[in-house]
Amino acid sequence: MTNKNLIDLESMSVEQVDKLVRKARKIMQSPADFRHACDGKILATLFYEPSTRTQMSFQTAMLKLGGRTIGFDNPMNSSVAKGENLKDTISVISGYADIIAIRHPVEGTAMAASMYSEVPLINCGDGGHLHPTQTLTDIVTLSCEKGRLDNLKIGVCGDLLNGRTVHSLIKALAKYENNSFVLISTEELSVPIYIIDILEKNHCHYEISHSLADAIKDLDMLYMTRIQRERFKSAEDYEAQKNVFVLDKEKLALAREDMIILHPLPRVNEITVDIDDDPRALYFKQAQYGMFGRMALILLLLQDEDFMLSERETFISEHRCSNPKCITQPESYLPNRAYEKLGMQMCDFCDKRIDK
Ligand code: CP
Repeated sequence: MTNKNLIDLESMSVEQVDKLVRKARKIMQSPADFRHACDGKILATLFYEPSTRTQMSFQTAMLKLGGRTIGFDNPMNSSVAKGENLKDTISVISGYADIIAIRHPVEGTAMAASMYSEVPLINCGDGGHLHPTQTLTDIVTLSCEKGRLDNLKIGVCGDLLNGRTVHSLIKALAKYENNSFVLISTEELSVPIYIIDILEKNHCHYEISHSLADAIKDLDMLYMTRIQRERFKSAEDYEAQKNVFVLDKEKLALAREDMIILHPLPRVNEITVDIDDDPRALYFKQAQYGMFGRMALILLLLQDEDFMLSERETFISEHRCSNPKCITQPESYLPNRAYEKLGMQMCDFCDKRIDK
């Protein structure tokens, strides 16, 4: 099955990602050629959770393509404050807009929203689950700055447990030839086991490290992430983790001259500001690449009839997903939609195993 909703980057083939990168590069080269590409089209940005880059880069992307935007960045200023459910909000807005970009703090919301949308819908982050357009941003950056997406030694550092950007990035880059990964985190914030499963399934070499100084020496790219305070159970748990990995001048001196530093941002204090002027520090440029990547995505979803994304086969399970962070908990009308993986039932919204 195919559709036009970007929920998980898994639904895009390597060829489609490459097509998007080519389109983004074409827009960068001749932006004037695309100034009226979306005349008359409307993008709705529904941000139930704070954002600077994702929200504004999507809005800027649509404006630069000649389209217009509607939406909210605080659901309490919408009828969500009166108790409107996700289904009704999406059903109504998909009658107003040509394309929807949604961010929500609850896992699986984008998938749930896509069930009720008549127009293409893009996941801009659903809790600690996925953030596919950040990964497209990272891939466009890598392609432009390193000239390749394969044969890379990639270090990812920080909150590898809660960092949805890291999960999406590893999943995407694992599909390219000969990429290897160094997973740099504390024991408590190491990547979920399903990410290790993906690395192994793709025969990717990976190492686990608890020392940024050791790991940095031979990397092509270092991907720093912040410790996600909002996803911790207590302030004490966060305090114990917050300054464990900090990239400063001393550690950067150990890195190669051609290593690039990316960060999805926002930064808290995991990269010291005196590094910002180092030519290897590309995180602000990366945010700009993201806007071009999102222009390309909007164009492909709205205008390229061949750009259809794959959809996995699902069924209705007898059992409800028990993940307390899953959208099926607050939005109780949602079906028990599941898919099968390695003989297990997985929730189609949050990708967690359904306990029978
Ligand atoms: N990288 C990213 O998602 O940033 P925002 O939260 O500011 O959108």
